[in-house]
Amino acid sequence: MAEHAIQVQGVTKVFSGRTVLDAIRLDVNEGETLVILGGSGSGKSTLLRLMIGNERIDGGDIFIGHAGKSLGNMTDREMDDYRKSLGVLFQSSALFNSMSVADNVALPLREHTDLPEETIGIMVKIKLELVGLREHADKMPAQLSGGMKKRAGLARAISLDPRILFYDEPSAGLDPVTSAEIDQLIIDLNRKLGVTSVVVTHEMESAYRIADRMVLLDRGKFIISGTPQELRESTDPLVRQFVHGLTEGPLTDRRRAGGYEVDLLGD
Ligand SMILES: Nc1ncnc2c1ncn2[C@@H]1O[C@H](COP(=O)(O)OP(=O)(O)OP(=O)(O)O)[C@@H](O)[C@H]1O
Ligand SMILES: [Mg+2]
Repeated sequence: MAEHAIQVQGVTKVFSGRTVLDAIRLDVNEGETLVILGGSGSGKSTLLRLMIGNERIDGGDIFIGHAGKSLGNMTDREMDDYRKSLGVLFQSSALFNSMSVADNVALPLREHTDLPEETIGIMVKIKLELVGLREHADKMPAQLSGGMKKRAGLARAISLDPRILFYDEPSAGLDPVTSAEIDQLIIDLNRKLGVTSVVVTHEMESAYRIADRMVLLDRGKFIISGTPQELRESTDPLVRQFVHGLTEGPLTDRRRAGGYEVDLLGD
């Protein structure tokens, strides 16, 4: 049986009295690419923020395999170490606009290691090569296309050799070809670096390209997990509608029946 990189154990999150994640259980296996699917507002980004320790958990806990501990039991120091063992690519890429690509990638190394500049320079070159940006090291973020910004953000995310890589909507806002290239990069990095990858997306085409396993959330609830094949063949009407992008089904029915308010706030 595969080792678990992460076990989400009945996690609940409440914002202003509203439950946005409701007793979510899921496992991330060591070395796999797990894709978290769900419509807008289903709680994907919130779950990701909980998993990276950026947001307080209101119920349940998250066990981290390589730390041998749950987030709820970690000291501040252990939490810092845990965060340092992760790479995160946020939707916005979150590059510093006043720094070159190379300096953006070097930043975590300068902040968190005592390595000499020469060594950092070599490491930055290796990371940029891995994401296909070696020739663009001296460019400023404003000079990069959307896809190149993602690559630069990814080079920075892997700068400290993470155990787990998290991506929030890596292909959002990219054209289909660039999006496919980023997906290929996610697959390549997962293999080359031997990391575990957790990818949040609502784009099925991208999900099918990269996923070893998938999880579907709906309005803060766990709906199904399984291989891409298992989700594709599911007979559950909600899963079918989401996975196949059908215009008729429970997702659209409830919008019509419950009206706007229920759709936004849950029932
Ligand atoms: N900091 C916050 N304060 C209050 N409510 C929040 C906060 N963050 C998220 N929410 C709410 O929690 C719910 C889930 O949001 P989340 O961003 O996790 O959804 P998502 O699945 O990532 O959606 P999208 O696909 O649009 O990015 C939403 O209803 C959102 O309004
Ligand atoms: Mg989101």
